[in-house]
Formats: sequence, C-alpha cells, structure tokens
Amino acid sequence: MKIGIIGCGFIGGEIASFIDENKEFKLIGLNDIDRNKAELLAKNLKSNNAVIMEIGELIEKSDFIVESAKKDIVKVILSNKNIDNHGKKLLIMSTGGLIGNMALLEKIKNCQVILPSGAISGLDAIKSAAGKIISLSLTTTKSAKSLEGAPYISKNNIDLKNINEKKIIFEGKLKEAVEGFPQNINVAATLYLASKFKNIKVKIVADPNTKFNTHEIECTGEFGIIKTTTQNLPSRNPRTSYLAVLSAVNVLKEIKNNIKIGN
Ligand SMILES: NC(=O)c1ccc[n+]([C@@H]2O[C@H](COP(=O)([O-])OP(=O)(O)OC[C@H]3O[C@@H](n4cnc5c(N)ncnc54)[C@H](O)[C@@H]3O)[C@@H](O)[C@H]2O)c1
Repeated sequence: MKIGIIGCGFIGGEIASFIDENKEFKLIGLNDIDRNKAELLAKNLKSNNAVIMEIGELIEKSDFIVESAKKDIVKVILSNKNIDNHGKKLLIMSTGGLIGNMALLEKIKNCQVILPSGAISGLDAIKSAAGKIISLSLTTTKSAKSLEGAPYISKNNIDLKNINEKKIIFEGKLKEAVEGFPQNINVAATLYLASKFKNIKVKIVADPNTKFNTHEIECTGEFGIIKTTTQNLPSRNPRTSYLAVLSAVNVLKEIKNNIKIGN
C-alpha cells in the first residue's frame, strides 16, 4: 500500500516511523507547509522511497493519504479531483476541519474516510448507539494554563492565573465550545460525527492541579448509559495527547489485521 503523509509534525512523524518498520506499507510522499520539516523527516527514515511532493501529486499517487497537518487543509484535500478515486483511503486527524465542510465529505463515495478515536474512548459504543441517543455530554478538564489563548477566555476576561481550585469555565453547546476553545475542536468534532447527535452539551473545567487532559463522556438512550473517562498525558507535542498518536498508528495496524475487534 502506497502511503502519503500531509503534515510532518509529531503525528506524521510517528506514522512515518511505523511505516518504516513495516514492509507491507510503502511511504511514497511527504508534504508539509514547512518544506524543511518534510525533508528532515525523509532524511531520518531508513527507507528512502519518500519524495517531497505537492498535495495534488501526493493524493494522485497514494493509495492511503494521511492528514496530520491542520484543520484548514481538510477542505483542500476533500476538494481535490483525485481524492474520490476508487480504492483510496483517507485518514483525517484534524477532524475539526470537517465541521463546516460536511457537504464536501458527503460528496465522497469511493474513498474510505477514516477518523480515528484520537484522545477519547468509547467511540465504538457511541457510534453503535447513534440514532438512539437521548442525551450526550462531554466534560473536558485541563490545567488552567492549557486554556490560555482560547478566544472564549480573552472575550470574557477570565483571569486564569487566579484560579486556585477546580472551576467550570464554560457550559454550553458544541458549536459555541468549538468556536470558544478551538484546541478542543477535534475531540468535539469526532464525538459529533460518531453520534450524529445535535444537542451535545459541553463543559470545560479548569483545574490548576492536574497534569491530565481529561475527557468525560456521558451518553444516555434506549440502550442504557455509557460513561467513559480518558485521562490523557501529552505526547512530545504538549498540545497532542499521546493516546491520539497511538490511535492514528493503530489505524494502520488494523489494516494489516484480519481480525476486527470492536466497531
Ligand atoms: N483527532 C484527534 O483526536 C487529534 C488529537 C491530536 C491532534 N490532532 C490534530 O492532528 C493534527 C496534527 O497534530 P500534530 O501533533 O502532529 O501537530 P504538529 O504541530 O506536531 O504537526 C503539524 C504539522 O503540519 C504542518 N502543517 C501545518 N499546516 C499545513 C498545511 N497547510 N499544509 C501542510 N502541512 C501543514 C506543520 O508545519 C507541522 O509540521 C493537528 O491538526 C491536531 O489538531 C487530532
């Protein structure tokens, strides 16, 4: 399987290293807005098949395209004339880029679009329950420091330095949360796309004493109650949970595996 990676940062690098160790896959193309990053990654791989390419060429030549760049690039990829060719697979990490581009996603019929669970657990159950959900909530608890720079914080003049104990910073709808806290956008977007539930309630809590990024999901419906808690530690990229990287690499492992567990 010929693979091309768009975005050669932390996740792209980890996926490239996995491919480097697995002969079933062949990394043929790399793309990064910062060409130096793509060149550095190519240089550090054992195999020397990967060529630095423009996005169009990478999509045309790859059977499996990995997006591990930024949400803005998702629209460009979904609009490419070759993306929906038969037999192609597209792994999207910046799932937040799909919100606002749902019409483009729905137009894709032949390419298999894969959205990994990323930094949350329980997505298998939530997906099975879609259409039978009565209520769904996401509570994200982070250190006060990691909420710095969020548009909602500056707009509402919230002084994060004076938070000495756990405090609810935001309670509202998914769309407002995505706008106010774009760093949370992937988790919220993936949850929405799996559940197809429009009234997801989001709570953001600042905890000055935590080292985790915690995502709690509570979902009720005809099936009963689903409750999951994922306490994430950051990866080498402090903005990216380590579990999200493991989840992306696991997509490739699953392709090789003929036994499918969970759905
Ligand atoms: N789905 C999830 O649960 C989840 C979890 C963590 C991260 N993510 C997302 O995955 C993406 C990658 O994360 P990361 O930790 O590897 O980030 P990173 O910052 O380490 O790497 C991103 C790379 O993409 C490159 N890039 C940026 N814009 C680009 C563009 N327009 N075209 C080509 N390359 C571009 C950057 O130069 C950088 O090298 C981010 O969008 C992040 O938000 C998703």
